[in-house]
Amino acid sequence: MKMSRDADELLETIRGRRSIRRYRTEDVPNSVIESVLEAAVWAPSAHNRQPWRFAVIKRAEIKRALAVEMGQSLRKDLEKDGLSSDLIQRDTDRSYRRITRAPVVIIACMTIVEMDRYPDARRSDSEMTMAIQSTAMAGQNLLIRAHSLGLGSCWMCAPLFCPEVVVKTLNLSSDWIPQGLITLGYPAEEKYKERADLSSRIIYLDDKRLEIYTRSNL
Ligand SMILES: Cc1cc2nc3c(=O)[nH]c(=O)nc-3n(C[C@H](O)[C@H](O)[C@H](O)COP(=O)(O)O)c2cc1C
Repeated sequence: MKMSRDADELLETIRGRRSIRRYRTEDVPNSVIESVLEAAVWAPSAHNRQPWRFAVIKRAEIKRALAVEMGQSLRKDLEKDGLSSDLIQRDTDRSYRRITRAPVVIIACMTIVEMDRYPDARRSDSEMTMAIQSTAMAGQNLLIRAHSLGLGSCWMCAPLFCPEVVVKTLNLSSDWIPQGLITLGYPAEEKYKERADLSSRIIYLDDKRLEIYTRSNL
């Protein structure tokens, strides 16, 4: 009986989480951040190598430095795309605000130093993907735990476009590969999102399909 209520509550938590991009200014205590990260590191990982690494930033000057450097990288990309200076300014301003106005910024990184090594690219690429997948799973745990503690969060992909800039600005270990920038704080907005109907995203390999498969393979 208890189990089923817990299971329902878990699904409600998963469904209730939204990407939150505006936060109240109040501090997120370190104990709460730790609790969020604790959930992250209990994610499954390939070979249990736990390839995730997290850099937590609360200090305003570090957030500002990161926002400025990442903004310059974004600006260069957008200039190459030939966007108008107004659009570029708008995008870089938004990026700056997102990073500097979040009470907590967490850079989710991965490292492959403890992953298996292969002589060939095919298996090396798979191993790399495993590390990425493991880190993404940790990220989802983190977002769900944050939501369950009354925090808002948003996973942002920006570091993927300028990993070296992030590593250099934050003086991270050179084997850390930034995967995402997670903003965290007490929410100052409510969001509503839909999901596509479940049936549009799954197939059941039921008897009927099996019949078609066996027929076409005979
Ligand atoms: C890999 C990944 C990258 C994302 N990058 C960004 C981003 O750069 N900026 C942003 O505002 N949201 C980003 N998001 C959040 C998505 O926009 C959001 O998850 C999606 O719209 C669904 O909304 P929900 O999270 O509220 O359910 C990202 C999410 C994922 C999983």
